[in-house]
Amino acid sequence: MTQSSFPACRPRRMRRDEFSRRLMRESRLSTDDLIYPVFVLEGDQRREVVASMPGVSRVSIDLLLELAAEAVELGVPALALFPVIESGKTDGAEEAWNPDGLVPRTVRALKARFPALGVITDVALDPYTSHGQDGLTDASGYVLNDETLAALEKQALCHARAGADVVAPSDMMDGRVGRIRAALEAEGLIHTRILAYSAKYASAFYGPFRDAVGSSGNLGKGNKYSYQMDPANTDEALREVRQDIAEGADMFMVKPGMPYLDIVRRVKHELEVPTFVYQVSGEYAMLKAAAANGWLAEEAVFMESLLAFKRAGADGILTYYALEAARLLKRDA
Ligand code: PBG
Repeated sequence: MTQSSFPACRPRRMRRDEFSRRLMRESRLSTDDLIYPVFVLEGDQRREVVASMPGVSRVSIDLLLELAAEAVELGVPALALFPVIESGKTDGAEEAWNPDGLVPRTVRALKARFPALGVITDVALDPYTSHGQDGLTDASGYVLNDETLAALEKQALCHARAGADVVAPSDMMDGRVGRIRAALEAEGLIHTRILAYSAKYASAFYGPFRDAVGSSGNLGKGNKYSYQMDPANTDEALREVRQDIAEGADMFMVKPGMPYLDIVRRVKHELEVPTFVYQVSGEYAMLKAAAANGWLAEEAVFMESLLAFKRAGADGILTYYALEAARLLKRDA
């Protein structure tokens, strides 16, 4: 294509009026793109605000059903469930596959009341381990890969048996997708989808989440560098996604979101798979803090950030702004 220049080409012509801006708009955000993350804890009528995530609370199952009703009403396709485990953390994380544990009970309650709402569960041991790591550790604190796989398999099966539509391993152990897929197939759970957190970085943006689920104290000065990815890398992300494709995942997550749009773009455009992105707790906290100070216009910035994920190639977005975004999309429809 030949590039003509000014004055033949005046890009501002198309930007002059709303009708022509609408006609040439390439990306659109829809409620269909949203996944709503929620935090659940034990008890009745319990609601605890998460200090570093204004607008986000940890709630008991009864109150979670009210949030889910709102998501359904707004047309949000799915929610992602994160448990707050207050007691029963152990080195072996046995609570992670208790069939009457918090997650399976929540899944059953959600699916009984809202059968059409997609329920995604997190597969990783960090809520359940006394040390806050995503896997089992040896005496030196190193997270053991193959021993952890056996635990993750039990955890994923426990969620799927309870009726989870999607299990989402976020632990970054090697081989976990294949292991979970084989276990699901062996039980005839052939419809359970796997959303693989394939490109999950060792990010400092997860801080508020670790407060929300109460794992930061357990993790202490520990870090996850020996299994989560180095923020410096991109090729490694593609290798991880390719491996998870081969092992049988259905959907692929890049996490965090805003600082990693280049990764979203490469995964979507080079591998042509259903690509998801997680706008993580720290990104949410940044936007909230700036908005609270009157430094940014909150609605405009979070809607812009979500649209930017679409432009980069994301098929879906996990965001703490899901309900607010769905409300705005509905208002403007
Ligand atoms: C742990 C998990 C984390 C998040 C989701 N699942 C934190 C971590 O890896 O330490 C972070 C999400 C967020 O920051 O919003 N398996």
